[in-house]
Amino acid sequence: MRNRTARRLAQVSPSGIRKFFDLISSMEGVISLGVGEPDFATPWHITEAAINSLEQGYTMYTSNSGMLELRQELASYLKATFGLEYDPDTQMLITNGVSEGLDLAVRAILDPGDEIIMPDPSYVAYPACIVLADGVPVHVPTNCDNAFKLRAEDVEARVTERTRAILIGYPTNPTGAVMEANELAEIADVARRHDLLVISDEIYNLLVYDTEPTCFAALPGMKDSTILLAGFSKSYAMTGWRVGYAAGSTEIIAAMTKVHQYTALCAPIMGQVAAIEALKAGAAECEQMRDEYDRRRRVIIKGLNEMGLSCFEPKGAFYAFPSITITGMSSEEFAERLLKEEKVAVVPGSAFGQAGEGHVRCCYATSLSNIEEALNRMARFVKKYRRD
Ligand SMILES: Cc1ncc(COP(=O)(O)O)c(C=O)c1O
Repeated sequence: MRNRTARRLAQVSPSGIRKFFDLISSMEGVISLGVGEPDFATPWHITEAAINSLEQGYTMYTSNSGMLELRQELASYLKATFGLEYDPDTQMLITNGVSEGLDLAVRAILDPGDEIIMPDPSYVAYPACIVLADGVPVHVPTNCDNAFKLRAEDVEARVTERTRAILIGYPTNPTGAVMEANELAEIADVARRHDLLVISDEIYNLLVYDTEPTCFAALPGMKDSTILLAGFSKSYAMTGWRVGYAAGSTEIIAAMTKVHQYTALCAPIMGQVAAIEALKAGAAECEQMRDEYDRRRRVIIKGLNEMGLSCFEPKGAFYAFPSITITGMSSEEFAERLLKEEKVAVVPGSAFGQAGEGHVRCCYATSLSNIEEALNRMARFVKKYRRD
């Protein structure tokens, strides 16, 4: 029988994360350090704002670009926080999460065969989105010795005539790595020298520890060649509301809006209303959640290192990415056996690219008591299998 699905789909494997979660849903007593999602409910006043709007009949489409009030609030926030000036009418687009923003960005800029340079390991959607837009993801391995930072010289070595952009996301999923402004400036230099765009996924921008948030677009001269993607899912515990935003040059935002208006039309209105409330009055809760993640981060990093799974100190997001090489297992085998034998779910590092092999991703967006129990179970498992 003729193949009924597009050939390009064969290049995209199903998410290595989802596979595990299908397995977990059939088991009892599992502690999940798996799905990368806040364990907090959305702060109540944010939910309430959306409920009130529904009661008032706000159930319709918004403009393709998103509610003007939300774009204006975002423009004020970006100005106040990073000194960035975007025109809410032409340089901002409200998306269905950063997920959609990412898809729009690559579809807006790629012709078939064009390349995007990205770090490895990185968020599972990056290479998939690029391939689905008929582009070519070019992986730059990063490693634990360099705190999983992207080195400018490694990026530059991969620039070809087909390169259109560099795609980065700091703080990073799956490692929690953060790049400081001076390190990002070196990436900006490469982009400038080769006239490349930078797609900067800043979904975890408010979840940084012992360091200040940076915004790539705020680096000198980078505003017009950066596509800034960010949203509300992680910092405000709003994954289900599906709201994110893109900010960039008028030309790029117009191109992204063209794709968006025919594929998504707009982001959900209730999510947009909630996002306005989050921006106006959600900072305190955002901070409280961040402080709680920080407490958990310290506990999990200490616990993993003590049991022999060496783990560099992540400075952002809510992931630890320990090495599991002392067990001699592949990351997939480690995750599968840990789940079956000790009922702790982690994600194999290989799900995030080849350079993730030898590591597992542990998400610490779960209660301290869960983390402590998971660490006990993992320590028992590691003691049984360590080979050194
Ligand atoms: C790095 C990164 N970017 C984007 C997303 C998707 O975010 P959103 O919920 O805004 O679509 C995630 C979700 O895990 C992520 O980790």
